[in-house]
Amino acid sequence: MHVMGIETSCDETAVAIVEAPAAGSAPVGRILANVIYSQLTEHRRFGGVVPEIAARAHLERIDGLVEEALATAGLELAELDGIAATGGPGLIGGVMVGVTMAKAIAAVAERPFIAVNHLEGHALTARLTDDVAFPYLLLLISGGHCQLLIVEEVGRYRRLGTTVDDAAGEAFDKGAKLLGLGYPGGPAIERAAASGDPARFALPRPMVGRLEPDFSFSGLKTALRQRVAALTARGPLAAQDRDDLAAGLQAAIADCLADRAERAIGLARARRPDLAALVVAGGVAANGFIRTRLQTIAAGADLRLVVPPARLCTDNATMIAWAGIERLRRGYVDGLDFAPRPRWPLDPSAPRAIGAGVKA
Ligand code: KG4
Ligand code: ZN
Repeated sequence: MHVMGIETSCDETAVAIVEAPAAGSAPVGRILANVIYSQLTEHRRFGGVVPEIAARAHLERIDGLVEEALATAGLELAELDGIAATGGPGLIGGVMVGVTMAKAIAAVAERPFIAVNHLEGHALTARLTDDVAFPYLLLLISGGHCQLLIVEEVGRYRRLGTTVDDAAGEAFDKGAKLLGLGYPGGPAIERAAASGDPARFALPRPMVGRLEPDFSFSGLKTALRQRVAALTARGPLAAQDRDDLAAGLQAAIADCLADRAERAIGLARARRPDLAALVVAGGVAANGFIRTRLQTIAAGADLRLVVPPARLCTDNATMIAWAGIERLRRGYVDGLDFAPRPRWPLDPSAPRAIGAGVKA
C-alpha cells in the first residue's frame, strides 16, 4: 500500500509517501518521497515560532509540496491507499491546514483519511527505520515535548514521565538565546560546547534522583541567566566564557535526560520484562553528546539503543505516513468530521507531573 503523510503542526511543512505491504505486523516500509519546507527564515528574527506566520506559510507551501511528493514517488492521487495528516497536538492554525488538505485529497481520491497524533508519529518511526518490536521505551525530546513513554502497541502508550515546565529542546533554545548563539539553539550550543569546559560552571540538575521520571528545566535556565548576568556586568560575554557555559548547559541537560531515562527503564522493566529497546526521538536526539550518554545508560541496562536518522528524528511527514500505515493495517481510520486537536496526550490516563502546567 501507499500512504501519504502530511505534517504541519509546528514550523515544518512536510509531505511524504511511504510504501509497505498491506498485511502483516512486520514493519518493512520504503520511503518513496519525503519533502519538507522548513520555515526557519520566517521565524528566526523572532527567536521562536510565531503561530500566525507559521499557519500562513503552511498554506502557501502545502499545494506545491503535495505535487512534489507525488512526482518524486511517481504516483497519481488515485494510487494512494490512504491519506494521513497530523491531527494534533500542535499549533491549531497549522494543524487545520494539513488536516483540511488531507481530507480534501481523501474525498477526491475516495480513500480513507487517517488522523495521526504527532507524538505517535515520533513514537513509531523506529519501527520503520530499525524494525523495533513492541514493547519499547521511548524518550521523546524535541522543542515542544519531553516525555518518557512505554510503546506497547499502536494506539497503546503508557506515559511514565513528562516535563513540568520546558521541553529539553526549549532548554537548548532559551540557553542559546541567553548566550547570544541564535536560533535554533540546539545545534549552536553543541558547536560552542565542543570548545568549552563543562566543569567550569556548576549548573543545577533539576529532578535528578526523583522517583518519578519527570523533567524540569526552568531552574537550569534561571541559573544560566544569573551566570551570564554576573559575567556581563562589565562588558560583553567573552567567547571562552560563552563556550564553557554552553558546555555546562549541555552536560546538565544530558545528565537530567540520562538519569530520568535510567529511572524509567527500571519502571518499564517492572511492568514489561520483555522490554526490547530504548528509542530516542525528537530534534534533541541529534545531539552527539546526549546520544553517547544514553548509549551508556542503555548498555548498562542491556537494552538496544535506537536513534532514527536525524532527518526522521526532527519533524517530518514520513513519520506521519508511517503511522498512517500502521493504523490502516489495523483498520483504524477517521471520518471527515475529525476535528483538529491542539492538545492530544498519547496517554490520556497519565497523571500530570507534579507542578505541571498546561503541557501534554
Ligand atoms: O523535533 P523538532 O525538530 O521539533 C519539535 O520541536 O517538534 O525539535 C527541534 C528542537 C529544537 O529545540 C532544537 O534546538 C533541538 O531540537 N535540537 C537540538 C539539536 N538539534 C536540534 N538540541 C540539541 N542538540 C542538537 N544538535
Ligand atoms: Zn515533533
